[in-house]
Amino acid sequence: GGLVSLKLTVIGTGYLGATHAASMAELGFDVLGVDVDKEKIDALGRGELPIHEPGLPELLRKHTESGRLRFTTSFEEAGAFGDVHFIAVGTPQRAGEHAADMTYVDASVTAIARAATKDSLIVGKSTVPVGSARRLKALAAQEAREGVTIDFAWNPEFLREGYAVEDTLRPDRLVIGSDSATAEPVLREVYAQAISMNTPFISTDFETAELVKVAANAFLATKISFINAFSEVTETVGGDIRTLADAIGLDSRIGRRFLNAGIGFGGGCLPKDIRALQARVSELGLDSTMRFLNEVDEVNLRRRDRTVYVAETLLGNLEGKRVAVLGVAFKPNSDDVRDSPALDVAARLFNSGADVSVYDPAANSNAAKRYPRLNYVDALTDAVNEADLVMMLTEWSEFVRIDPAELAELVAHKVMFDGRNVLDHRTWKDAGWDIVSLGHKS
Ligand code: UGA
Repeated sequence: GGLVSLKLTVIGTGYLGATHAASMAELGFDVLGVDVDKEKIDALGRGELPIHEPGLPELLRKHTESGRLRFTTSFEEAGAFGDVHFIAVGTPQRAGEHAADMTYVDASVTAIARAATKDSLIVGKSTVPVGSARRLKALAAQEAREGVTIDFAWNPEFLREGYAVEDTLRPDRLVIGSDSATAEPVLREVYAQAISMNTPFISTDFETAELVKVAANAFLATKISFINAFSEVTETVGGDIRTLADAIGLDSRIGRRFLNAGIGFGGGCLPKDIRALQARVSELGLDSTMRFLNEVDEVNLRRRDRTVYVAETLLGNLEGKRVAVLGVAFKPNSDDVRDSPALDVAARLFNSGADVSVYDPAANSNAAKRYPRLNYVDALTDAVNEADLVMMLTEWSEFVRIDPAELAELVAHKVMFDGRNVLDHRTWKDAGWDIVSLGHKS
């Protein structure tokens, strides 16, 4: 049983929800994970995690075994159990639009508010358009049963895939938005451990809390596109993009992180969040306010065009050429291929006639669901066998550590494209390779 008296539910057991649920169990709470997907709930209940996330399988197994972490598809059960209900369902980009789809959030809040049989606190964690929390609080109040009071708070999540457990247990900051005096003390109890480690705790209103999340992601996306825009300049005039990033990054006001030039950002968050933010701000009548994010998006997408163009230039003609793609996850330590620039590039090369072999330490099967026609292989050595061009598109440490002399034995032509600007070009050149990357004149 739990070591702490508060009972928690986590509604939505995807990336965010599964991590949050297991981490809260690790902190000592009794936790009930809730999802409408029966198959997912059954797997999680058996301690099986459908995603790749370092450290999470161990936590899940430990706490499904201890009984502190359970899973259900029943909102009735959740409503009777929980003192605090975290909402962690997805807000995907709406088909053919930039705006976020709030269907799942609205449905979850409605269902848990109807099911709650005791006074409880609903805490939104999903990334939502500003203004949602206020609306959802009213929705919950309207749907609540007679005599049951439902309080509401917004608590955005900043976890990174690949570091999800660490980011949840040791966050940079905690942000709580509410308009009552009662929500904050409850959340201080939930996050007591992080607070005891001096994690900054920012208590604010709903709108600020919602905006902190999208502002952080918009800033990160802008930072990446900023350096990638300079890549376009150095590709034309000459210069070294990595040295440029190092030099400006030494200014502590700027900082070196998120200044890695390359094939650009992807994933389930940054691309959709900058689009949803633009859509929301336009809805508010501020049409030009976030227009620069459109440029951030375009610079980012142009990196993929440039990558395909460089491959074409290196190979002359893609028809029948053997291209080894190393890494298709949107970033290392993840099996996520949502909006992955690497997978997009691989598919485009294939569509232009190249014979593409793909190796990713974790994302092959997810990539194969999206683009079944690429040739997925289970080992790096199989991917590069007789390759005319090797393209390192996701910087898994396994790729960063490749010995260029060993790899040279396997390929047909020693040409390497460093899509993430992480390889030591000197070493590769010394081993007889042509090495090409974005942000350099070629
Ligand atoms: C991002 C944020 O970093 C998290 O703080 C946030 O909680 C999360 O979105 C979310 O909204 O849920 P994540 O999508 O896991 O996290 O990935 P990042 O580590 O931010 O990387 C995003 C993309 O940017 C990747 O494709 C990565 O390869 C790319 N990137 C990152 C670069 O191209 N250059 C860089 O210098 C850094």
